[in-house]
Amino acid sequence: MPRLMTALATVAALALPGLANAQDMDPNVAARQSLMDLYAYNLGVLGGMAQARIDYDADLASAAATSLYHLSMAGTERMWAEGTDNMSVEGTRALPAIWDNAEDFEAHEAALVTAAEAMMEAAGTDLASLQGAMGGLGRACGACHQTYRQPE
Ligand code: HEC
Repeated sequence: MPRLMTALATVAALALPGLANAQDMDPNVAARQSLMDLYAYNLGVLGGMAQARIDYDADLASAAATSLYHLSMAGTERMWAEGTDNMSVEGTRALPAIWDNAEDFEAHEAALVTAAEAMMEAAGTDLASLQGAMGGLGRACGACHQTYRQPE
């Protein structure tokens, strides 16, 4: 019995911090950060090829760009729920300006869709086409971060 108790206590000690974090994190914040991470996951492939750190592969480039395009079209309204700015909840870098300028923020989201679509059309053609679409795509991410994300 004491051995079982010790084992249970160990399991509890390992499991509890994780649970506490999951409960502290606002689910809307977690969802939008996950979406952003998936943007970065796909952009990383395209950027790596554009900078010749990864060999150009038309199929891989095309798949990453297509994924990014579809991710950019995800419905994000709930993720940016009112009251989830960095002054109101823990664990987010989203500035209150997002909710003061909702239309402009949505225009930045729309600009990402446009840039991702251009990349989807270019990425599988050849490396030069991919490189040509990279600037616009990078700017679509960067412009929004510059205005609406707290610098680290
Ligand atoms: C419409 C605005 C907007 C666009 C467009 C945008 N982002 Fe973001 N991004 C944000 C905001 C705001 C945050 C902070 C979110 C938070 O912490 O709740 C963020 C956070 C991130 C993070 C950190 C996520 C985390 O786990 O904390 C990454 C990575 C990221 N963005 C990558 C990208 C990439 C790559 C693109 C382009 C393909 C992009 N973003 C486009 C607004 C945007």
